[in-house]
Amino acid sequence: MRRATIALASAMAAVSLSACSVVDSIGGADSSASPKKGDDITVGLLLPEKENSRYEKFDYPIIKKQVAELTNQKGKVTYANAEADPGKQNTQLQQMIDAKVDVILLDAVDSKAIASGVKKAKDAGIPVIAYDRLAQGPIDAYISFDNELVGEVQGRALIEALGTRAAKSKVVMMNGSASDPNAAQFKAGALSQLQGVVQIVKSYDTKGWKVKYAKANMKDAISAVGLGDIDAVYSANDGLAGAVIDTLKTAGVSKVPPVTGQDAELDGVQRVISGDQYMSVYKSYPDEASAAAELAVYKVQGRGIEFEALTGDLVDSPTNKGIPSRMVPVVTLKKDNIKETVVQEGIYTVKQICTDKYKSDCAAIGLK
Ligand code: BGC
Repeated sequence: MRRATIALASAMAAVSLSACSVVDSIGGADSSASPKKGDDITVGLLLPEKENSRYEKFDYPIIKKQVAELTNQKGKVTYANAEADPGKQNTQLQQMIDAKVDVILLDAVDSKAIASGVKKAKDAGIPVIAYDRLAQGPIDAYISFDNELVGEVQGRALIEALGTRAAKSKVVMMNGSASDPNAAQFKAGALSQLQGVVQIVKSYDTKGWKVKYAKANMKDAISAVGLGDIDAVYSANDGLAGAVIDTLKTAGVSKVPPVTGQDAELDGVQRVISGDQYMSVYKSYPDEASAAAELAVYKVQGRGIEFEALTGDLVDSPTNKGIPSRMVPVVTLKKDNIKETVVQEGIYTVKQICTDKYKSDCAAIGLK
């Protein structure tokens, strides 16, 4: 049902966008819209952290480029990164309200703590669109990936890796930050596959998604379970997977057990190629970030029909019901589909992935 809605929304978006470009090409504005503003707009973008490279390498530059393209190069993006500090993000949000930006794209560090700031923006007449993480408070729309599906894909991959050993296998869970609602969805998706199938011997939430905490938690798991007795690690993203694998290696593991990840970070992809990391999940940053830029611009310009076409799904947050939303699908990334995913989408070149250290691993899977 939910997936049918997604497919329908995408189809509607395609129809609506092509219809719009026809109108544009003959020089008119969309007659169905009541534009509030022209192209000279400012989009405020609040991203949560820098420890994972996606935000500064993909999300921000793609949103910036798309906003410019959608506004004849006149629209601007004001960007701030909270570096995993909820207080800092509240201040940054307030600064954007004071600067009277036209719309805010918000990827919350702490979805609950930011709710009062969202309300302030709303009261100041500034729409807020939740980006990637569903912030609480009166937000206007939500754009993200299908986060529960991310967890399901990760969980299923571990079971596949363990094969007939699954029932006897001891699995450690390295989850994301408790203040990020996505982390709860990744965990729920993974548990829907793992529970009752493997033995979950330890489970940690990683404060602020920080590598240093993941390392400490992994050390704790090793001393509690025993290095040789950990058969697999569910790791919510590539940053945490790197920490888990490092800690296992430092402890002297003879063979790294299957470890999951997400984000297709460059070093994550390289670990998948070398066999240190079992899989990652590729989430198309161009799809998510472009749609976010479109939503922001349509909202400010009062292009309601196009806005609705992009947000055909509805989600609830703990504070608000029926939020118009869009969920972008995700893809498992393994050794055999690196070319079809990150290379084909222009995320990395083969040259970037296959550095000297990975030359022979790349050759072994025919990546050239
Ligand atoms: C994002 C992931 C990211 C994590 C840490 C999540 O909300 O969806 O892509 O790895 O936060 O920043």
